[in-house]
Amino acid sequence: RSKDVPQRDLELEDTPLELGGEQGRWEEERLRTAALSFGAKRERELGVQQEQDRYQLILEEDEMINFVSTQEGPSLSQADLKKQSMQEVRRSLPIFPYREDLLRAITQHQILVIEGETGSGKTTQIPQYLMEDGYTKGGMKIGCTQPRRVAAMSVAARVAEETSVKLGNEVGYSIRFEDCTSERTVLKYMTDGMLLREFLTEPDLASYSVVIIDEAHERTLHTDILFGLIKDIARFRPDLKVLVASATLDTERFSCFFDEAPVFRIPGRRFPVDIYYTKAPEADYLEACVVSVLQIHVTQSPGDILVFLTGQEEIEACCELLQERCRRLGSKIAELVILPIYANLPSDMQAKIFTPTPPGARKVVVATNIAETSLTIDGIIYVIDPGFCKQKSYNARTGMESLIVTPCSRASANQRAGRAGRVAAGKCFRLYTAWAFKHEMEETTVPEIQRTNLGNVVLLLKSLGINDLIHFDFMDPPPHETLVLALEQLYALGALNHLGELTKLGRRMAELPVDPMLSKMILASEQYKCSEEILSIAAMLSVNNSIFYRPKDKVVHADNARMNFTVPGGDHLVLLNVYNQWVESGFSTQWCYENFIQFRSMRRARDVRDQLEGLMERIEVEVVSAQGDCVPIRKAVTAGYFYHTARLSKGGYKTVKHQQTVYVHPNSSLFEEQPRWLIYHELVFTTKEFMRQVIEIDSSWLLEVAPHYYKSKELEDSSTKKMPRKQGKTKDELG
Ligand code: CDP
Ligand code: MG
Repeated sequence: RSKDVPQRDLELEDTPLELGGEQGRWEEERLRTAALSFGAKRERELGVQQEQDRYQLILEEDEMINFVSTQEGPSLSQADLKKQSMQEVRRSLPIFPYREDLLRAITQHQILVIEGETGSGKTTQIPQYLMEDGYTKGGMKIGCTQPRRVAAMSVAARVAEETSVKLGNEVGYSIRFEDCTSERTVLKYMTDGMLLREFLTEPDLASYSVVIIDEAHERTLHTDILFGLIKDIARFRPDLKVLVASATLDTERFSCFFDEAPVFRIPGRRFPVDIYYTKAPEADYLEACVVSVLQIHVTQSPGDILVFLTGQEEIEACCELLQERCRRLGSKIAELVILPIYANLPSDMQAKIFTPTPPGARKVVVATNIAETSLTIDGIIYVIDPGFCKQKSYNARTGMESLIVTPCSRASANQRAGRAGRVAAGKCFRLYTAWAFKHEMEETTVPEIQRTNLGNVVLLLKSLGINDLIHFDFMDPPPHETLVLALEQLYALGALNHLGELTKLGRRMAELPVDPMLSKMILASEQYKCSEEILSIAAMLSVNNSIFYRPKDKVVHADNARMNFTVPGGDHLVLLNVYNQWVESGFSTQWCYENFIQFRSMRRARDVRDQLEGLMERIEVEVVSAQGDCVPIRKAVTAGYFYHTARLSKGGYKTVKHQQTVYVHPNSSLFEEQPRWLIYHELVFTTKEFMRQVIEIDSSWLLEVAPHYYKSKELEDSSTKKMPRKQGKTKDELG
């Protein structure tokens, strides 16, 4: 039997992983384990063999990964992770012994860079120390930014618990479309984007006594912009304390940027992590993850597992596969608690990853790279790292932004591995070869500012009165073309005039916490008298990829249910239809269930819609309905997204301005139909460049909504012949 099973060997890396922290001690521990394991090797090989036989017996049909271990396994039992009271836990964190030194350093310096291993207590403890030390006297606030929504929410919840206050009172969080703060809030966790928006209402952040830019090493676009703005206001607000907190990466650069601000290092605790690689590349890393999880579960000593995947869809698929296989195995294996974590996951579900694993069971957390440094889950001993992440990439020539699953950087891979060694010696299984690690991965991740569309940020900076963007104090400047393109796009959208100054429209656009194209679409709905519908569409687009539910065992039913929502004209109108029917059902959970719609996504869409509707008054847009006429709705979409126009051409579509080949996503309602002109919401690169969420338009509308951008010559149909894949007349021809 085993001959037919392809064996995917994992081999142990021969050089120790360099992880920083207490390097000396770490290597020493590793040498010790190596020496210990030498004598026991043969014995253990036999043991491993037996365990593998058992594994294979249990998972007969499954492919097997053959673990080849030459090192001592982790020795931690669940009982070792003894329960401690919250205050004890606080005192046991690596940062605790440095409390006084840290507070003293903060008094002495206006700007301080704080470097510490993930999990050392930076995010949860420092703000509490500051509160205890009087930094919130007189209602002054401490703000702590996080690049990720999930982190902001979960950390705030944790700190509220530690300080025994109700979340939203003294301790709260603020993320886009969700404000969980009150008059009483003095410690505010928020996404970096939210603090950026606060500059609009309070340009000197006067209500803050301390601003902590946390997870600085992530170098998100918003964090990078905050660096420049905060450095600037710190000059004329000497009373403001600025802390830049980072994992053990790149801290010298932060110090250098902030005029040689001192670096406060919190020595980490770190146990050895054995790194395993596969001998050959994995064709299907999702499947390899599932197999590895089960194999660890069956053959390895206690300890929880953390799996890194790239996004919600993959994570859900992985959890489903795992559940399915565990169900089949039934009582033959110990209980496996399978928990997903990603940005859109509702908070009650997110909280579950922190609940202790029941005795005898094992927990597996399937996460995006949020678990790389933003969140620390105690009890993780095993990490499975397929080596990928989802990244934005931007082509400044064509102005096209797409999300691409790409190999992560070596720095990321090392952070991921580090998650296994926080509570005891751990193991990291890399589902790629040692060669790929050395030769195919980049050293570090390129800062987001250099691979994204800057429209949003430029609009914001312009509304802050920062006109000269070329000379803005960037830590790493964006490519010149990207900046120029952003200005051009904002000009085409009507947000800037020919002098590059903010127009009235631009000022209104900046009020909405969404991308310029989306806010233009919303503002255009005023003119086309369809704001009611456009608000729903905007809300649905903001949760777009998680509306339809497609369980593996009910694919046919799910697809039928989805088909039932199809209306002519395109995906935006399908989304609107789903939303409206849900409203008619009285926001029913049952209705969602029957129609294979994700209730949670719908609830979020409703929240987003409510928030946007609340802002309509501020930007003076009356909320009215188009009364069933779809043309104005499609025109409003066109007014925002005319940049994203594609024209049918042989075998696929070509973008109008740059003649780039793109395809309709197979999930689209227009996949079969292939209309001549369409507008897409976003591009996603998987096997090809796919347009996700497309709507059919009439090319003449482009001249109507963007006369300064399109010339009628560009929009002429090069042939009047029927397109090959199409039967009968197009909608355009029918009028
Ligand atoms: O920010 P840093 O990575 O240095 O550490 P932290 O996020 O402040 O985490 C310190 C401790 O709090 C860790 O042991 C976490 O497991 C724990 N924590 C938690 O139990 N629940 C949360 N939501 C956040 C942190
Ligand atoms: Mg942190």
